[in-house]
Amino acid sequence: MGRKLESGIFKGLERSEKKIWLSSPTMHGDEKRWIERAIDTNWVSTVGENIDEIEKWIAGFIGVKYAVGLSCGTSALHLATRLAAEKLYGQARPDEGTLRGRKVFCTDMTFDASINPVAYEDGNAVFIDTERKTWNMSPEALEVAFCLYPEVRLVIVAHLYGTPARMDEIRSVCNKHGALIVEDAAESLGAKYLTSLCGGGKDSCQGAALRGSDNSGVAAQRAGTQGAAALTGDCVWRETGALGDYSAISFNGNKIITGSAGGMFLTDSKEDADKVRKWSTQSREAAPWYQHEEIGFNYRMSNIIAGVIRGQLPFLDEHIAQKKAIYDRYKAGLSDLPVKMNPFDEDKAEPNFWLSCMTVDPDAMSRSVRSESEYIYESEPGKSSPHEILDALTYFNAEGRPIWKPMHMQPVYRMNPFVTTEGSGRGRTNAYIAGSGEDVGADIFSRGLCLPSDNKMTPEEQDFVIEIIHRCFA
Ligand SMILES: Cc1ncc(COP(=O)(O)O)c(C=O)c1O
Repeated sequence: MGRKLESGIFKGLERSEKKIWLSSPTMHGDEKRWIERAIDTNWVSTVGENIDEIEKWIAGFIGVKYAVGLSCGTSALHLATRLAAEKLYGQARPDEGTLRGRKVFCTDMTFDASINPVAYEDGNAVFIDTERKTWNMSPEALEVAFCLYPEVRLVIVAHLYGTPARMDEIRSVCNKHGALIVEDAAESLGAKYLTSLCGGGKDSCQGAALRGSDNSGVAAQRAGTQGAAALTGDCVWRETGALGDYSAISFNGNKIITGSAGGMFLTDSKEDADKVRKWSTQSREAAPWYQHEEIGFNYRMSNIIAGVIRGQLPFLDEHIAQKKAIYDRYKAGLSDLPVKMNPFDEDKAEPNFWLSCMTVDPDAMSRSVRSESEYIYESEPGKSSPHEILDALTYFNAEGRPIWKPMHMQPVYRMNPFVTTEGSGRGRTNAYIAGSGEDVGADIFSRGLCLPSDNKMTPEEQDFVIEIIHRCFA
């Protein structure tokens, strides 16, 4: 950036006085009303009307029978993972996680909250490489992973940046191998997916998923319901959050709908919803005193936070429309540059466009190097790199961000297996033989960045961002 700035390439551009954010909360007014109502009626607790109302709203909107309000998306994912593990492997001792000694296949390019619950439960995450089509878990790499580790029965899938993963392909691989799916829809509230395997027949998917697993009790419990779509191959549009066996959403401050914090567990099973509600409130048994037969958590949602979410929810469609307009404007405005927007399957997915992202084409990448905490790049005419662009955005008071660094590249998960379409992704270079296999996540991470995607950004502000990016390639 330094060199391009000094060279006068950015001449005539003034720093924006107002910060152009990546994705900040957008309040509408009613949030206050519902918070005040909670205070006025003294429901300043983890019980109250706001929680009841938003659980109903979300369940209806997403098309699941039950939604359980929790303190954050991470707690929803933790309990979803724990529940799936308990169904598969039984109740653990109180001092052990439910996944002790078990492997779980996980989306690799995601925020670590998606997959940390595997470690919370003493399991071993196996990271599945990303596909170029959607930037989500590659169903082909997942199939390879089942060849390497046929004993695995649990898969955690995230919809990155609000773009649905190819769930039908992932679901059919999972069905073949008798595996359950925990769906991380934290970033994708309002995104839709055209499914022939999970539409209107979620229970049938669950039944199929459990076929071949050793948990015959659960399989029998699921066997009664067969969804029409699953039987006939008909396609139906479903919301993300309704595509897993156990699903989670987030209302974190940067999400498309926020309560400052908050999350939800989603399911069609009353028994599962009741269990998660119980676990989230310290697992109290029916006794006059505090009695516990299971480990509990303090994960329930606050009625105050639920008030903020209650005020936000009617604006979900509006927020999605704004985010989509931002994506489309970037796509048009950057079309003359050697860059690509984050892709989605146009026939089968309607993202919520939470974050607009781009990658620099390989032959337009100027040289750059990253360590674990620092970066350095060269400035070359006609080329650029994510950090050159991010530095330029920062200089002009706009907020971008690197692509979420894949989990297999994170120091904390350095020893965990990683699987690509070609087999194990670890130790693939050879001092005596040229070449190494493809690592899609690492490639997108090295060439990609998240663009300012705040739904309050004006078209003029976005044009300013687009102009800065153009100058980076001068
Ligand atoms: C993909 C993904 N999963 C999980 C989470 C965790 O959600 P929360 O911050 O509500 O705990 C987030 C975001 O924060 C996320 O982006």
